[in-house]
Amino acid sequence: MKLGRLNHVGVATPSIENSVAFYRDVMGAEVIRESFDLPAQGVKVCFIDTPNSQIELIEPLGESSPIHGFLAKNPAGGQHHLCYEVPDIHAAKAWFEGKGAKILGEPRIGAHGTPIFFVHPKDMNGVLTEIMET
Ligand code: CO
Repeated sequence: MKLGRLNHVGVATPSIENSVAFYRDVMGAEVIRESFDLPAQGVKVCFIDTPNSQIELIEPLGESSPIHGFLAKNPAGGQHHLCYEVPDIHAAKAWFEGKGAKILGEPRIGAHGTPIFFVHPKDMNGVLTEIMET
């Protein structure tokens, strides 16, 4: 395993619309992608480009969204996960499993259309971590 590029920072929000206005009007974001639903993950997503990475705004989609619990604890939203790039998702999964880390579910197609998985924050110094194949 070699630490890869930081692909994006996931930020949970109760309203993508309001967050987009914040990033545009307060933070000066110029490239705001079209938001879209990711029903398999129970989220609505919107990417905002920064010069060297992206912010992934995540809003709950449906009643069983995994984001509901996070927003119950953090009603205003907040930083949710970091996402690092890897060249091979299965090699990365085997690596983290070899370290005894808890992988949350099987690799699946993520918001960028490539395979991803999440690693439990308890094994990642408290940071929910998304691993994404490029
Ligand atoms: Co993400």
